Amino acid sequence: MKIAVFVSGGGTNLQAIIDNTKTGILQDIEIVLVLSSSPDAYALTRAADNGIKSVVLRSADFADKAEWDQKVVEEVKASGAELVVLAGYLSLLGPKIVSEYSNRIINIHPALIPSFCGAGMYGIKPHRAALARGVKVSGATVHFVNENYDEGPILLQKSVDVLPDDTPEILQKRIMKECEWEILPKAIRLIADGKVEINNNIAYVRE
Ligand code: GAR
Repeated sequence: MKIAVFVSGGGTNLQAIIDNTKTGILQDIEIVLVLSSSPDAYALTRAADNGIKSVVLRSADFADKAEWDQKVVEEVKASGAELVVLAGYLSLLGPKIVSEYSNRIINIHPALIPSFCGAGMYGIKPHRAALARGVKVSGATVHFVNENYDEGPILLQKSVDVLPDDTPEILQKRIMKECEWEILPKAIRLIADGKVEINNNIAYVRE
């Protein structure tokens, strides 16, 4: 299966996918496109280092959001990707890409949805909010993407304990390492194997 990976920053989740295509559970998966919302994303270097085609598309560079949305659709179509993976992608997708790739876009979120999600909850912020609320577990969620932030069907979740000495940065790192880098590749595997069904906004995994 061919996939496109959308990024905005460091790209450690992209790296986890790349590593799995080489020696892990995704050896039959091809990353045909990395699409970044920022020209400065280190994820672009990771793509280049691994010979993966990349493109930068910023909505601010287009006459309006509809034109940008159209260009995103064109890039994904031209790449031949069957699945779009949002791996630390921080822009809200346009309605055209969301409808044309309905149930074929997934996102990794660094909290246990429906906690600490929605507009403005990205990067370090969910971890700050989790510690401020005093939760005893947190984690990550892979979900399908619809037109609202973090509201599509939940596919996979993994939790970790919150520890007494955690700072947002420490918690963020533990969740990336123990949750995100594991469940995002796993979600791609399940979809590639045709093991995921969606009914009435609920995702079911058929083993
Ligand atoms: C990850 O923690 C990801 O879960 C989060 O941004 C980080 C990107 O890291 N995504 C969101 O907050 C989306 N709402 P990375 O660029 O190193 O993969």
